Amino acid sequence: MNIKKIAILTSGGDAPGMNAAIRAIVRSAVYYDIIPVGVKRGYKGLLDGDFMEMDSRSVGNIIQRGGTILLTSRCPEFRNAENQERALGILRDEQIDGLIVIGGDGTMAGAQALDKLGFPVIGMPATIDNDISGTEQSIGTDTCLNTIVEAVDKLRDTALSHERIFAIEIMGNESGYLAIRAALACGAESIIIPEQKWSVTDIIERINRSYTSGKRSHIIMVSEGAATAQQVADAIIEETGYEVRVTVLGHVQRGGTPSVQDRFLASRLGYAAVEALLKGERGLMVGVRGQEIIKTSFKEMKKERLDTEEIRIIIEEILSI
Ligand code: F6P
Repeated sequence: MNIKKIAILTSGGDAPGMNAAIRAIVRSAVYYDIIPVGVKRGYKGLLDGDFMEMDSRSVGNIIQRGGTILLTSRCPEFRNAENQERALGILRDEQIDGLIVIGGDGTMAGAQALDKLGFPVIGMPATIDNDISGTEQSIGTDTCLNTIVEAVDKLRDTALSHERIFAIEIMGNESGYLAIRAALACGAESIIIPEQKWSVTDIIERINRSYTSGKRSHIIMVSEGAATAQQVADAIIEETGYEVRVTVLGHVQRGGTPSVQDRFLASRLGYAAVEALLKGERGLMVGVRGQEIIKTSFKEMKKERLDTEEIRIIIEEILSI
């Protein structure tokens, strides 16, 4: 099929680098004489028929900006088959020949639904959580990790000065990826992640061991899918009376200027997504493995599992004791 017009949407939680991705898609489309159209607010905007014409200039000066100029939303209504059919009708009425969706696992599920209805869709992974298969790295994860590390380094200064324990709550939905990577990068002493059972007794033993070994602060990275930092702190205080402070990093983790790595990834994947549509490829997500662009069909996609070696390095206190 001849592709003359494509639509682009960002959906789910925003991630730094989404704008760089939009820019790459729009400019690649223009290069190939394809008309790019933006859909506002993800699948919600698709159902509302909220489209905007785009060109090379409309994506000027956005490569360095966090968030998404197309806006985003979570759209549970899109799980409904009737709404999916309605979206298909809207895309056809607008004479759109292909759609590129930028987001995480929920976004890819929506893409798969449209693909099943026979509409050409390509996905691009963008989520701070880095929890989808088919790519080693999602757009936004690197920037998010840098934000977390910068904050935790600051918290370490005050933790050390007061010889305190800090429970720091990290985003990640049902995945401990961000907590693990940030813990390794910051030298955090403990992690609590949804993929592993945890107990307050174990955490207290770790705290005691680290203080016995001469440490003067203890940082516990708490992944939001496992517990709240407040719950962890309360449990430690109740058992020991130790002084524990709580920090919830919250949505600051999703904002900010995208890192070089995220801009680069977004640019490469944006171009690859347009090329894939032009080649007649459909129903897949573009991703990376090492330096290579890889493609995974929506059907094969699953929740990404964590690297057990990375967890072991922290749990067995190899680097943090
Ligand atoms: O999926 C990205 C993410 O930031 C998760 O880490 C977090 O659990 C969730 O989104 C928060 O969503 P919201 O901004 O809708 O509260």
